[in-house]
Amino acid sequence: MPTAVITGATAGIGAAFVRPLRDRGYDLVVVARDGDRLRRQVPGAEVIAADLSTTEGCAVVEARLERGVDLVVNNAGRGLSKAFDESTLHEQLGLLDLNVRSVLRLTHAALPPMLAQGSGAIVNISSVAGFSAGVRGATYSASKAWVTNFTESLDLQYRHRGVRALAVCPGFTRTEFHDRAEMDMSAIPSRLWLTAEQVVQTALRDLDRGRTVSVAGPQYKVIVGATKLLPTAARRRASAVVRRRLT
Ligand SMILES: NC(=O)c1ccc[n+]([C@@H]2O[C@H](COP(=O)([O-])OP(=O)(O)OC[C@H]3O[C@@H](n4cnc5c(N)ncnc54)[C@H](OP(=O)(O)O)[C@@H]3O)[C@@H](O)[C@H]2O)c1
Repeated sequence: MPTAVITGATAGIGAAFVRPLRDRGYDLVVVARDGDRLRRQVPGAEVIAADLSTTEGCAVVEARLERGVDLVVNNAGRGLSKAFDESTLHEQLGLLDLNVRSVLRLTHAALPPMLAQGSGAIVNISSVAGFSAGVRGATYSASKAWVTNFTESLDLQYRHRGVRALAVCPGFTRTEFHDRAEMDMSAIPSRLWLTAEQVVQTALRDLDRGRTVSVAGPQYKVIVGATKLLPTAARRRASAVVRRRLT
C-alpha cells in the first residue's frame, strides 16, 4: 500500500485530505501537536504528535520520511493577526519556522527516497496571499510566496525523475485558522469563502492533471489571473482596498 503523510491533519484543510487519500488506497501517517485529537479523528493511522515549529518536532517526522513515503502533504501552517510592528520577533520567527522552515525540512527528508524509487509527490499548502503584498502582517504572505516558488522549483527540477510537486493556493477557507490567529473575518463577503473539501478536491484533481499550482474556486481563479496580469501599481491599489476592508 502507498503511504501518505499529512501534517496538520486534525482540522481544516489537512483533515479534509484524510478521506480522499484513504479512498485512493493510502496508508496514512498524520502529524499535529495534539496526538489525542489525531488518534480520535483519524483512527487506524500512524500518529506523530510533534510541534513542527521546533527543530525537535521536525526531526521526529523527518526520521519517518527518510524511511520512504509516497506522498507528503505539508499543510500545517499559521497566520498572525497583528501588524508587523505590533508583534514580537518571537511570533514572527515562529510563523516562519512553521510555514517555511518545516516545509523545507520535511521536503528535504522525503525527497531522496522518492527519487531513489522514481516516484512520489509533495503537496505544499500555500495561499493566494502569496501572489501579492500582505494586507495585514508582512510575513504570512511572504512565507506563502516562498512556499509557491519553492514548490514550482521542485516540480521543475524533479518531475523528469518521477517526483511531482504541487502548490495548493487556497483563498479564504472556513477552518479553525482565523480563530486561532484571532482574526476578525466578519468583513469578508460570503462569496469569497471556500470549504476545505472544495480546496482538497481541486488539489487532487490538479495533481492528477499534472498541474504545478492549484487554485480552487472560480472567484479565486479570476483574482489570481488578474493579479498576474495587472501592473504593480494597480495590484497595490487593489491590495490597499482589501486592506481598508480588513483593518
Ligand atoms: N483557512 C484559510 O483561509 C487558508 C487560506 C489559505 C491558506 N491556508 C493554509 O492552509 C493550511 C492549513 O490551514 P487550515 O486553515 O486548515 O488551518 P487550521 O484549521 O487552523 O488547522 C491547522 C492544523 O495544523 C496543525 N498545526 C498548527 N500548528 C502546528 C504546529 N506548530 N505543529 C504541527 N501541527 C500544527 C493543527 O493541529 P494542532 O493544533 O494539534 O497542532 C491543525 O491540525 C495552512 O498552511 C494555511 O496557511 C489557509
